[in-house]
Amino acid sequence: MAKPILRDFPFPILTPRLVIAPLRPGRGAEVFEAVEESRASLSRWMPWEKGTKSAEDSEEHLRRAHAQYILREDFGMHARERESGRLVVFTGFHRPVWEIDEFEIGYWVRKSAQGQGYASEATNALIRYAFNVMGAKRVAIGHAEGNEASRRVIEKLGFSLERRRVKAAVLPDGSIVDSFDYVRLDAEGLPPLDVTWGREP
Ligand SMILES: CC(C)(COP(=O)(O)OP(=O)(O)OC[C@H]1O[C@@H](n2cnc3c(N)ncnc32)[C@H](O)[C@@H]1OP(=O)(O)O)[C@@H](O)C(=O)NCCC(=O)NCCS
Repeated sequence: MAKPILRDFPFPILTPRLVIAPLRPGRGAEVFEAVEESRASLSRWMPWEKGTKSAEDSEEHLRRAHAQYILREDFGMHARERESGRLVVFTGFHRPVWEIDEFEIGYWVRKSAQGQGYASEATNALIRYAFNVMGAKRVAIGHAEGNEASRRVIEKLGFSLERRRVKAAVLPDGSIVDSFDYVRLDAEGLPPLDVTWGREP
């Protein structure tokens, strides 16, 4: 297998409702608008929310994410609604461990798009992509104690609980709670979903 930095990955990933692609510079204002709309639901779980104060902060994030993508150090992605073009899901493969082909999925969904199955749809697609394209052997995911919406997404997608780490997660308000680590070792038994990659919608 070529070094990760020399490998090419086919994008976008298409699902029935979403177009998923790596983050790119130039859309900081659009991302910041999604953050502003979602602060109440992000502030409890996402440590970066407080430090994101302007469109420039979001643009800096996009530029850093793009650089990390080129280096194959992190695969930050977003998903747009196919129908409207609106940015709805922020997701990706984080902390790749190339020696064991492990990738970790994370996500948040803008407030006005929550509760419509978008996190589940995007994650279902990323699991398929990880095992079929990236050559994943392990796809990891996790949530902090009390994050029931995230736990529900993870369980609906058939991840197995690998361990509960007691008092291992620091929430943005400084409280310390347990964290739950899950894994999938293949893409078997996922809810059915029509997913393709490498061609435009
Ligand atoms: C977690 C999150 C990504 C889920 O996104 P989403 O697109 O709304 O998720 P889905 O619609 O695919 O599924 C959500 C599931 O959680 C359930 N749910 C939502 N809020 C819930 C709550 N407070 N308690 C229990 N279940 C809840 C929904 O009913 C749904 O389950 P169902 O399909 O069985 O009805 C979204 O809530 C979010 O962005 N939260 C803030 C950031 C965050 O916590 N990210 C994850 C960090 S691990």
